[in-house]
Amino acid sequence: MTVKIAARHVSAFYGDVRALDDVSIDIDTDHVTALIGPSGCGKSTLLRTLNRLTDTVPGARVEGDIRLDGRDIHGRDMDVVELRARVGMVFQKPNPFPKSIYENVAYGPRIHGLARGRGELDAVVETSLRRTGLWDEVKDRLSDRGTALSGGQQQRLCIARALAIEPEVILMDEPCSALDPIATARIEELIGALSGRYAIAIVTHNMQQAARVSQRTAFFHLGRLVEYGDTSDIFTNPRAERTKDYITGRYG
Ligand SMILES: Nc1ncnc2c1ncn2[C@@H]1O[C@H](COP(=O)(O)OP(=O)(O)OP(=O)(O)O)[C@@H](O)[C@H]1O
Ligand SMILES: [Mg+2]
Repeated sequence: MTVKIAARHVSAFYGDVRALDDVSIDIDTDHVTALIGPSGCGKSTLLRTLNRLTDTVPGARVEGDIRLDGRDIHGRDMDVVELRARVGMVFQKPNPFPKSIYENVAYGPRIHGLARGRGELDAVVETSLRRTGLWDEVKDRLSDRGTALSGGQQQRLCIARALAIEPEVILMDEPCSALDPIATARIEELIGALSGRYAIAIVTHNMQQAARVSQRTAFFHLGRLVEYGDTSDIFTNPRAERTKDYITGRYG
């Protein structure tokens, strides 16, 4: 097992509200990690702490230790732009830039200097779109606006945009909740194809989805990590009563 992100004793606050309470969790490269739990339990907050998106929230504060490949992400030598390039994020609502399909994907590699010249940039765009299965659908309309795509296509475009800057970790916050079952199945397939190559953490309210895509599952409740283990164990043999209640649909 290769630990990519090690979070230790992480607490997060929005003003006086404690959203995360002493959470310790490893996100590793060899598994997809599902984060589950009732609304408001801190799943999105945890993802935000991992690439310091919490820095951008006024009044938010994070305590504890988070390491990426052993390096303190709050350390003085950690460049937050580099951190967010290495730890990519995909949100619940597809959020393509108001630019062309091509530019949506090319933007990151260009500002991070990952491609030299148009030829290299074209190649990065094509490879990223191919990885999300979008290339054949959009190759003849690369100059159309990203926002003109269907919801499922937009979400795959956002994943392609994240992949284009060669991240090491991909954090996904309910990436399928706005999508129909067919688009959802495509994203789930894609997660399967990307796993092993990237460390992936996905927040989902869909228990079947967690069971299908992940090998590790973390159950949160009221800002605390209640239980973390192999997905098959969590779903068939949870240790905590609260986990059992949640996965059997008794609350949440
Ligand atoms: N920007 C914010 N300002 C103030 N409080 C916030 C902010 N974002 C989240 N919170 C609070 O922090 C707690 C955790 O919220 P978070 O969004 O992390 O939960 P979640 O598990 O992702 O919920 P959901 O499943 O509904 O998305 C909640 O009590 C929420 O109200
Ligand atoms: Mg959330």
